[in-house]
Amino acid sequence: MLDRAQDGEVLFGGRPLASILEEARVSTPAYVYDLASMAAEARDVVDAFQGHPHLVAFAVKANSAGAVVRTLADAGCGAEVGSLAELEVAKSCGIDAHGLLLSGMGKSVAAIDAAIALGDRGIFAIQVDSIDELARIAGRARALGRAARIALRVNPAVRADTHAAIATGHEEAKFGIMRADLASAYGAIAREGAALRLVGLGGHVGSQLVRTDEYFEAAEELLGLAREWEAQGPPLELIDFGGGFGIDYGDGCPVRPRDFVTGIVARTRDAGLGGRAIVVEPGRSLVGAHGLLVASVVATKVAVERRWAVLDAGMSDLLRPALYGARHRIEPLRSAPCRDDATAASLRSRSWRVVGPVCESSDEFGEYLLPDPLPERVVLRDAGAYGFTMASNYNGRGLPAEVFVHASGELSVSRAGAAPAWIESRLAT
Ligand SMILES: Cc1ncc(COP(=O)(O)O)c(C=O)c1O
Repeated sequence: MLDRAQDGEVLFGGRPLASILEEARVSTPAYVYDLASMAAEARDVVDAFQGHPHLVAFAVKANSAGAVVRTLADAGCGAEVGSLAELEVAKSCGIDAHGLLLSGMGKSVAAIDAAIALGDRGIFAIQVDSIDELARIAGRARALGRAARIALRVNPAVRADTHAAIATGHEEAKFGIMRADLASAYGAIAREGAALRLVGLGGHVGSQLVRTDEYFEAAEELLGLAREWEAQGPPLELIDFGGGFGIDYGDGCPVRPRDFVTGIVARTRDAGLGGRAIVVEPGRSLVGAHGLLVASVVATKVAVERRWAVLDAGMSDLLRPALYGARHRIEPLRSAPCRDDATAASLRSRSWRVVGPVCESSDEFGEYLLPDPLPERVVLRDAGAYGFTMASNYNGRGLPAEVFVHASGELSVSRAGAAPAWIESRLAT
């Protein structure tokens, strides 16, 4: 949780942010995460099931830090992983095979093998994204002498009202098996015999959903398909409604993750499928608001009517603005102390185009009103999801440090991506 003390200091996880950075001995840019708030967020989603069989599979792509995954696992989450590396992280963080889902379009053989071989019967389900993939997975299952537990990812043909780049459940999206192709998929599964065991159906309409209706529309579609399947085949073990619960990036978000959960629990029971485990795959909503990126203002440029403030954090650290125009609130690390309204209004602020140091015109966070004179350090809010996980070494930039504020108040620090490692790898070619 980000708050501001009376003296204008940013408080994060109940502690002054500046003192967290000092104690952690990190320079900017640096991510800081509040693990207690992430745990509370996860417990709220888990509790919303009110005893209905469920799996809250945290989408590790949102934040793959061990401290985060362990915190969410302790709060009752499993994990949805998209690669062998994410699977290894989730497993090493204490999530057992029954709490794991593997998804993605072009899964590697190594990831498929690990998913089939884990534990006494493999992971909870491999989400199959195409008919073509069925034969590949069946081949690996036969090679390993086991049955692969699979769930079909269905494209529910629902266009979510979110940014085009993160709408994944409509007919033009590359994800999932179309309804019209399901009969062929069932036929292919039957032909593979004992190698494939269909345990579930699933879908994911998209990310940053700030209303529930499209999610419920897709849920109704999935429940209808599950009933159709069960009319001719063995009962399913799970129905996976996906993730996508939105957060407030500054424009508001009227719905909470538990609103999605209570709605699908009721619909699943109404459909007569109450015995099936309900799976949700939240990423952003568990971690997004509980991470921030701290950056320093390193330069300014004023040209005629334009004013740029250059940060030491750029698209290589936080890609979302450059990738799909996402906006993160940017605030001074230390603002003027809170005063009465008249004094506050008289404090000067100016509009700046806030940019990063990377050699791309798209390396821009947007236009922001910042105090005059400019603060030395700023905070980019709501950067806990799809922040560090999308960071890169572009321009030979080191990956930002990460600081984890544990519930005990203790800090841990990751400096995984220092630039020297990059230089070494380039020179070794
Ligand atoms: C299959 C799948 N599940 C879950 C998620 C998590 O979405 P969100 O972070 O919006 O909850 C994603 C995000 O891309 C996804 O592709």
